[in-house]
Amino acid sequence: MAQYDVIIIGAGPGGYVSAIRCAQLGLKTAIVEGRETLGGTCLNVGCIPSKALLHATHMLHEAEHNFADMGLKGKSPSVDWDQMKAYKSDVVGQNTGGIEFLMKKNKIEWLKGWASIPAAGKVKVGDEVHETKNIVIASGSVPSSLPGVEVDNDKGIVIDSTGALDLPKIPKKMAVIGAGVIGLELGSVYARLGSDVTVVEYMDAVCPGMDADVQRTFKRILEKQGLKFVMGAAVSGVETTKTKAKVKYALKKSPDSEEVLDADVVLVAAGRKPFAEGLGLDALGVKMTERGQIATNAHWATNVAGIYAIGDVIEGPMLAHKAEDEGMAVAEVIAGKHGHVNYGVIPGVVYTTPEVATVGATEAALKAEGRKIKVGKFMFMGNARAKAVHQGDGFVKIIVDAETDRVLGAAIIGPAAGDMIHELCVAMEFGASAQDIALTCHAHPTYSEAVREAALACGDGAIHS
Ligand code: NAI
Repeated sequence: MAQYDVIIIGAGPGGYVSAIRCAQLGLKTAIVEGRETLGGTCLNVGCIPSKALLHATHMLHEAEHNFADMGLKGKSPSVDWDQMKAYKSDVVGQNTGGIEFLMKKNKIEWLKGWASIPAAGKVKVGDEVHETKNIVIASGSVPSSLPGVEVDNDKGIVIDSTGALDLPKIPKKMAVIGAGVIGLELGSVYARLGSDVTVVEYMDAVCPGMDADVQRTFKRILEKQGLKFVMGAAVSGVETTKTKAKVKYALKKSPDSEEVLDADVVLVAAGRKPFAEGLGLDALGVKMTERGQIATNAHWATNVAGIYAIGDVIEGPMLAHKAEDEGMAVAEVIAGKHGHVNYGVIPGVVYTTPEVATVGATEAALKAEGRKIKVGKFMFMGNARAKAVHQGDGFVKIIVDAETDRVLGAAIIGPAAGDMIHELCVAMEFGASAQDIALTCHAHPTYSEAVREAALACGDGAIHS
């Protein structure tokens, strides 16, 4: 008799959510986690601590740039970096503690340690082998390395996103390799703290793959906030002394050039890669994709019976909420129900100020497909609430099918974009048209009115533009 119905490996958002849903569905469930605390990368060294630092430094930015204008006079606050990090750690502690509570509440056993899979139906943690009918691998991802660049978070000169959350002091000059989500979020944090931040990016636009309009506006706004960019530049290596670093890169337009950027700290934010080390997947014969992800079918099953995988370790966007959805869906599948994830409606959010949020197809991708579309755009300059909070820069853009008016995608750059995008996600899930959104009463004065205006712009026109 197996001890468990399901053992989940990894307690990040994919794993712990899956464990809760398994328990809710009556499955005897355990979760394996080797970290001291639950919550994985997201809660411990990712989404949550970075959001605490983004919030704190946004407050600082407001005090320095907008308070006087609103009649709030006085000296700007000074930064107590150790206290800011303590606040961040406290936020992390509250959240990881919350997950531990949820595990207990749902009677999910936490097997502490790092797991390996000696055979299907067996999970080894420490010296103990546990028997289980099903295994869900939710082991996540780790920062990708770059050739010629050695990350050492302890030294604190060449760091990854984990190191950037705990720097001993605020650097004078920071170089960021990669203008993706991590580079721009953490680059923003340090720029607001007074560092001179230069982002070096291989592509010609920030956040590759995002709506081109948003990319341009986003970069312009970040530049206004003090971030500098070197675009079209491939980093080939980083040299360090005891206290400083030199980032070497070649510009794509002159590949033989060798440019150098001096910095006190270099943040490497050039992507993440799936993490499945130590699980013994090779010996089990688990099929992998060419990009090193665990290959799964439409039900998150690997080629080995009884072993499933979800989240960053399989294909798809490396996003906590995508992992959570898969975690719930795979639990349903294991319980003999019908788990489903709509990969066409997974929002992406960058938590800078302004926030950036996207969902569905981009205008460029639909045009490349030859699809007939209409685009409705509304600038936050025409939104009373946004102007009242110094956030009139940015827009909402909705892309619809030209014939049916059905919403196919959306992009928002502006205040609370990460929350507002969900109106469009729900619209897409329900197959709504832009007219459905336009005919829905939106409270005034809210940022969400800009969504309605963009929907109106898909038809006869927005009111306030
Ligand atoms: P990313 O894939 O978003 O961006 C990496 C950037 O580095 C790309 O623009 C790439 O062109 C550039 N790059 C790569 N090699 C380079 C080189 N040698 N020289 C110059 N530029 C180079 O990866 P990022 O920002 O590290 O994030 C990793 C993952 O974590 C992503 O999948 C992201 O979605 C996820 N994440 C999501 C967050 C959110 O949802 N808010 C927050 C943080 C991470």
